[in-house]
Amino acid sequence: MKLISEILIVDDNIDLLELLSRQLKGKGLVPTTSNNVMDAIDLIEHQAVDLLISDIKMSKIGGEQLIRYVSEHYPDLPILVMTGYPDVNSAVELMKMGVSEYLIKPFPAEDLLSAIMRIGSVEIREPEEEKLVDYSAGFPGIIGSSPKMIELFRTMEKTLNNKATVLINGESGTGKELIARAIHYESKFSSAPFVPVNCGAIPEQLIESELFGHLKGSFTGAIGDRKGFFESADGGTIFLDEITNTSLGVQAKLLRVLQEKEITPVGSSQSKKVDVRIISATNLDIKSLVSQGKFREDLFYRLNVISLNIPALRQRDGDVIKLINYFSAKFSKEHGLPIPKFEKVVLNTLENYAWPGNVRELENFIHRLVILAGNKVSMSDVPTYMKMTFDINSPENEFVSLEEHQLKYIKRVLKSTGNNKSKAADILKIDRKTLRNKLKDMG
Ligand SMILES: Nc1ncnc2c1ncn2[C@@H]1O[C@H](COP(=O)(O)OP(=O)(O)OP(=O)(O)O)[C@@H](O)[C@H]1O
Ligand SMILES: [Mg+2]
Repeated sequence: MKLISEILIVDDNIDLLELLSRQLKGKGLVPTTSNNVMDAIDLIEHQAVDLLISDIKMSKIGGEQLIRYVSEHYPDLPILVMTGYPDVNSAVELMKMGVSEYLIKPFPAEDLLSAIMRIGSVEIREPEEEKLVDYSAGFPGIIGSSPKMIELFRTMEKTLNNKATVLINGESGTGKELIARAIHYESKFSSAPFVPVNCGAIPEQLIESELFGHLKGSFTGAIGDRKGFFESADGGTIFLDEITNTSLGVQAKLLRVLQEKEITPVGSSQSKKVDVRIISATNLDIKSLVSQGKFREDLFYRLNVISLNIPALRQRDGDVIKLINYFSAKFSKEHGLPIPKFEKVVLNTLENYAWPGNVRELENFIHRLVILAGNKVSMSDVPTYMKMTFDINSPENEFVSLEEHQLKYIKRVLKSTGNNKSKAADILKIDRKTLRNKLKDMG
């Protein structure tokens, strides 16, 4: 029997490509993917492929064309078809064209593997070996090799074989969602769903039913029973983005899910067991919300078994250049344009820029450059605000310690109140005793 190792998967659904490719990789196979027929043919012509797995219904050119092409030009290449629209006649037609196996979507990972093993022999790598994968150098699709990112990868690695809750904190655009996805898809639960929920975008009165589901008639507009996000994520991961946007009422219900591992749909008196890992994210200082009474302390501890602090882009030494190269290549390929060359002075400028919008800002900027700047990127392509770097050595930007800055500010407030300590304490939102102590401490 033919040994199968390199597998080309063709489907226009990128999420499915990602899922299948991770499943096959997990078994020690070597998948490549393509989301369209033209690229697939190009790959078959230029690299070793032991098995072709293809979808049938695809936007643009359909899978039958690819199968016809392969059976004509590569009669020895086995073909496995997967389709969401089973149809006996076309199945027979496909078999006549040389298709060996036919799977109906959706199918469990084991079915795919057994179909592959009916076509050829496979050297399956045992799951024990999987644990030896070393992620300290990075995760697929996450660019970065600065010390801060490597530290992050080390902590991420500790989340992969368990279902401990993970709380991700980082400025906007630092990659919180990307990291949540990587944790799910690299974990041993990756074949179960990853369900992202933006808590900030769901109106308060709907969030409970969105999360936990509802029964028909439980409120106006509930025209049928509906599963909530927790049930949809069963066995996998729910990603609660902007977690601080939940009301105290919803927080109490989340706490219950964590404690009892069950949910109660709106309008139901019966609870259901769920087995879901919760990854939550915020760009706010959640601890200070806890101390202000806006976020439940007990929930905070439950959500924060593993905490990941994503560094701002300006704290990642050397990564800006890596990301520029990565995004230039990515967008050039996407638009069929040449990869632009950056003048050295441009790279220096971009490295020194503070990137308040972090990786997202850099990504959008490079996307624009690829389309607008042409082959070469020079200083005239860089907007003025990116050129104004913060000069630490200039006297007007003199840095002082936080203590010193605080003291200066307290003095200013005191002066404005004519040295009235009560008024000053009011403005500073601290009590008089704290103010007195601060002044004493700082001499
Ligand atoms: N290290 C990285 N390597 C490659 N791409 C990245 C990296 N970090 C972030 N990105 C990309 O930057 C964009 C923003 O990332 P993401 O949406 O995960 O950020 P976020 O922290 O969730 O932002 P927000 O707080 O605004 O929701 C995405 O397109 C993501 O793919
Ligand atoms: Mg996000």
